[in-house]
Amino acid sequence: MSLSSTALGLLLLITFVAGCSDLVPDYPRREPPAGLLGDAARQEAGAALFSLHCAVCHGTPEEGRTPRADFFVPPAPDFTSATYRSADPAYLFWRIQKGKAVEPYLSGGSVMPAWGPHLSDEELWSLVAYILRRSGS
Ligand code: HEC
Repeated sequence: MSLSSTALGLLLLITFVAGCSDLVPDYPRREPPAGLLGDAARQEAGAALFSLHCAVCHGTPEEGRTPRADFFVPPAPDFTSATYRSADPAYLFWRIQKGKAVEPYLSGGSVMPAWGPHLSDEELWSLVAYILRRSGS
């Protein structure tokens, strides 16, 4: 391989990696409080908060999901999906806290409310514990 094609390959790789970093938003690394994720009482507290604030968009019709939720673009994800089993707790915390108030969600048309101004960190972590249990992890 000539030097110039190696250089071109490297350039393409750098462009690719830099392009991808836009798709994975940068969120703060944080550790959940010790023992929280498997704590049944915290999961129950999260379940109660979920029915109160989240089920209208993320729940089942039995839980109060509204027909309006079916028209959101992008759609509200279903947290019973197994893909959430391996979700990073710090990512879930950040998404619940910031909702649509950060990019790329802001310009992507998201209707996900920011819960940071309304819920304590403890409540946000309870929701994370519940979402992970809901997905079957
Ligand atoms: C008005 C409807 C609505 C309500 C209420 C709502 N959400 Fe959302 N949520 C959405 C939509 C739509 C999305 C997808 C767009 C996005 O990612 O911003 C979303 C995305 C999310 C995500 C990111 C999922 C991912 O894979 O990136 C999390 C986590 C989340 N919501 C948790 C919650 C929690 C917890 C509550 C309750 C405290 C809640 N949401 C209340 C509509 C809602």
